[in-house]
Amino acid sequence: MNILILGSGGREHALAWAVMQNPKCDKLIVAPGNAGIAMIADCAALDIEDGGSVVTFAEENSIDFVIVGPEAPLAAGVADRLRDAGLLVFGPSAEAARLEASKSFTKEICDAANAPTAAYGHFTDAEAAKAYVRAQGAPIVVKADGLAAGKGVIIAETVAEAEAAIDDMFGGAFGGAGAEVVIEEFMQGEEASFFVLCDGTDVLPMGTAQDHKRVGEGDSGPNTGGMGAYSPAPVLTDAIAQKALDEIIKPTMAEMAKRGAPYQGILYAGLMIEDGQPRLVEYNVRFGDPECQVLMMRLGAQAMDLMHACAEGRLAEAQVNWADDHAMTVVLAANGYPGSYEKGSVIGGLDGLPEDSFQMMFHAGTSETDGRITATGGRVLNATARGATLQEARDRAYAMVDQVNWPEGFCRRDIGWRAL
Ligand code: AMP
Ligand code: GLY
Repeated sequence: MNILILGSGGREHALAWAVMQNPKCDKLIVAPGNAGIAMIADCAALDIEDGGSVVTFAEENSIDFVIVGPEAPLAAGVADRLRDAGLLVFGPSAEAARLEASKSFTKEICDAANAPTAAYGHFTDAEAAKAYVRAQGAPIVVKADGLAAGKGVIIAETVAEAEAAIDDMFGGAFGGAGAEVVIEEFMQGEEASFFVLCDGTDVLPMGTAQDHKRVGEGDSGPNTGGMGAYSPAPVLTDAIAQKALDEIIKPTMAEMAKRGAPYQGILYAGLMIEDGQPRLVEYNVRFGDPECQVLMMRLGAQAMDLMHACAEGRLAEAQVNWADDHAMTVVLAANGYPGSYEKGSVIGGLDGLPEDSFQMMFHAGTSETDGRITATGGRVLNATARGATLQEARDRAYAMVDQVNWPEGFCRRDIGWRAL
């Protein structure tokens, strides 16, 4: 099979790494890719949000199967364009991708599906939103309705902070994403990510993980795209995962199908768990980054068979063969991230790293010039390892981190603290 993966982050490097291990993969192209992906697959420059270009590229390169990594091409309808052209795709339609692209849409679906989530109000003007905040009190959560690259959520500790966030959003701080605002009850509990394959009819759990969203140790400082993750997440016990499937995910999938927008792809449910009860924080219509890295480290080659079965609507006959293992990934980010940071610093120490089925340095924001790897993004490398225990996975991951020579970067030293 000739496979095309769309994306350029650590998530796509991990997907490429898993796909390359599968003997059914004859050729792999990743567009646009990064310096680490280029070491294991062909990379191609391509505007991945332009459906027409992606279709032409796939046809010219005799692609049999396309895996879409990030949400932006999905929300832009790239999977629809590929399917219209008769290509097999892993990833939802633009209509189904609204589960991530519009928070008010998701809340409304949850209402219809009777799925447990935070109480909320949906507003198109600031005064009504502020009146709701004053009536509810703080803490309270203010969210831009649309895609805001993970930055459109403000957890307000006071009513004044919430009112300021409302003014910012309606004032255009998040562009079009903030033209509508959702205000939510602040949920207490422990967060975990649940990844479920959905083929429009059947669902198959693909794994659990816990991310570390804050930039600083002890979960301090501003939110980031994620500073590290591990899998499985012990807080998501089998019983709680089953509840999440029965009460949240399956009813959502049924509601989407009922509305003529069946969901196909990986569904990432961000859950808040309190007293054994999961509630939905958000859906994402793609793998998490860096959660994907730990899932791929644990699944290896079978990940491709699962995604392929999902795209072909064969999940009813698929199964995940879990090893009794644990994986961890530690994100190395450029100094200053998630604020402003320098680009172009040289990263040393990567050549001597042991890379095998137990440990991989996945690349996120890197490029290569004259044989040197340089940092081109905020999140730059993902030291990813697995082991019989989480401690073993952790020791391997940090041993890789310690071999990297990159004074312009940093990482959190406490990834996995909740579980260890
Ligand atoms: P989201 O972009 O919806 O994932 O929100 C980003 C982060 O904000 C989540 O991962 C949670 O940590 C937090 N968050 C969002 N909504 C709520 C809520 N209703 N209650 C508590 N925390 C929340
Ligand atoms: N790591 C969080 C996300 O991918 O949304």
